[in-house]
Parts: sequence; C-alpha cells; structure tokens
Amino acid sequence: MSKKVFLLKREALEPGQVCKVETDGCPLAVYNVDGAFYATSDVCTHATASLSEGEIVDGDLIACPLHDGQFHIPTGQAMAFPCTVDLRTYKVIEEGDEIYADLEQESEAATAAI
Ligand code: FES
Repeated sequence: MSKKVFLLKREALEPGQVCKVETDGCPLAVYNVDGAFYATSDVCTHATASLSEGEIVDGDLIACPLHDGQFHIPTGQAMAFPCTVDLRTYKVIEEGDEIYADLEQESEAATAAI
C-alpha cells in the first residue's frame, strides 16, 4: 500500500533546515540534511512538542525545542533523554525538484534498521 503526498519543492528548504508540512491531517517535520530529504512525525514522542520548531544538530539529529531530547532523523530512533520512544518516519520520494512522502511506509533507513 502507498499514500503519496506532496511535501514541498526542493528549493523551499535549505540544507540544515527543518519545516512543518501539514498534509492529510498529519503534521510532518521535513528535513534537509546536507541535501538529503527526510520526513518524520512533527510531534515529539515525549510531550507533544513540534519538532519542526527545533534544530538540526550534530549533522542528522533533531533536537526537540521543549526539553532538548533528540532523535536520529533518518531512522527516527530516540537518541537523548527524555525521549525514549522512537519517532515515526516516512519514506521520502524525490521526483525532479518535488519532494513527496509515502504516509504508508517508513523511511528506508528505518526499515533497514529493523
Ligand atoms: Fe520533546 Fe520533551 S517534548 S523532549
């Protein structure tokens, strides 16, 4: 199964930036990590802060703006206290300069990590 939704144009998000995309009632955080795009749930698993208001740190971690917990962006893995529950990831599809997510599938990195 797949459920492909448009996120944004490639040029809308610079490397090192994260933004929120509300799609199909599902708030996503979309990341540009050195030119590679990723998408996760925007909602922190600790206490529901918006991760897109946080910062990308140490290359490929997102730091939550509320209590500074961290997740590995490609796999969604919880990396720093107080976050202990992994983040939902979504497969990203790049078509030319357009970036899409498949809401039915995890990121390839998360799938490989299982
Ligand atoms: Fe994200 Fe607490 S809400 S670390």
